Amino acid sequence: MIPPDSSAAPGTLARPIPSTGESIPAVGLGTSQVFDVAADATETAQARETLQTFVNLGGRVVDSSPMYGSSESVTGRLAAELGMQGKLFLATKVWTSGRQAGKRQMEDSIKKLRVERLDLMQVHNLVDVQTHLATLRDWKKTGRVRYLGVTHYHAGAHADLEKIIRPGDIDFVQVNYSLAEPEADRRLLAAAADSRTAVIVNRPFAEGAMFRRVRDKPLPEWARAIGCATWAQYFLKWILAHPAVTCAIPGTRNPKHVADNLGAAKGLLPDEEMRRRMASYFDSL
Ligand SMILES: NC(=O)c1ccc[n+]([C@@H]2O[C@H](COP(=O)([O-])OP(=O)(O)OC[C@H]3O[C@@H](n4cnc5c(N)ncnc54)[C@H](OP(=O)(O)O)[C@@H]3O)[C@@H](O)[C@H]2O)c1
Repeated sequence: MIPPDSSAAPGTLARPIPSTGESIPAVGLGTSQVFDVAADATETAQARETLQTFVNLGGRVVDSSPMYGSSESVTGRLAAELGMQGKLFLATKVWTSGRQAGKRQMEDSIKKLRVERLDLMQVHNLVDVQTHLATLRDWKKTGRVRYLGVTHYHAGAHADLEKIIRPGDIDFVQVNYSLAEPEADRRLLAAAADSRTAVIVNRPFAEGAMFRRVRDKPLPEWARAIGCATWAQYFLKWILAHPAVTCAIPGTRNPKHVADNLGAAKGLLPDEEMRRRMASYFDSL
């Protein structure tokens, strides 16, 4: 078993961003759908409690997008109300075509998230990718964004992501990777390690489908031996044990689930042999 290599909160796994060495906690928070709640006071209160729990337990990386309805403005509003803006590592995306439209959308995201500069701006699903990367390279020089990146959610785009990160001037690639969708293992994660690109893992639970697959199935005793108290921790520890992975961003608006997910960044991680055992057990279900 492999012990965590460095810490964010004491005992919590953190990983360095290769382009700078800055360390970020290895479990973040996704906001797709779950933070699109501006119209509903009860759901907004759930999002507030989730964000508070996340930060209390050492979380920092929050991922959003203009594609996610009110998620950016809800995140910005709650972070301001909870006085935690300086504590978060805020990542969002540009998801439109054209240079001017891209600039307008990114300015809008900065306003909605209520920050002066973004920690990470990513080109969502590679939409008009070269246009936005050109803008982002300028914005990085002038300090409007600290890091730039590209994202996709589907294995069909992994070859394109690989081509873009190969030259080594992209700080982050965000990609789907899980026991249910392990294809990034084939080439992309190795390419990220070679090009010193940080990896954010989206869809770590295949949008929740993995929980439906293990419903009513007990967690194997041997998984408890590496500190998995729940299926969520089993899924996340498998991801985090890949050395190229910097951070996974499970989406939730449930404070209990966010605490569960952050628990995966504590204690041991599986070694290669244990990862293989975890994968074949999951495949057998
Ligand atoms: N192209 C892209 O750039 C792209 C594409 C997809 C996703 N993303 C990013 O990646 C994030 C994660 O992906 P995702 O939200 O689509 O899928 P996901 O994280 O794989 O799954 C989210 C689902 O898992 C459930 N869940 C979370 N923690 C749980 C726990 N501990 N126990 C039981 N259920 C749990 C959530 O339900 P509850 O709400 O009930 O907890 C939700 O239904 C997104 O939010 C987004 O930020 C980016």
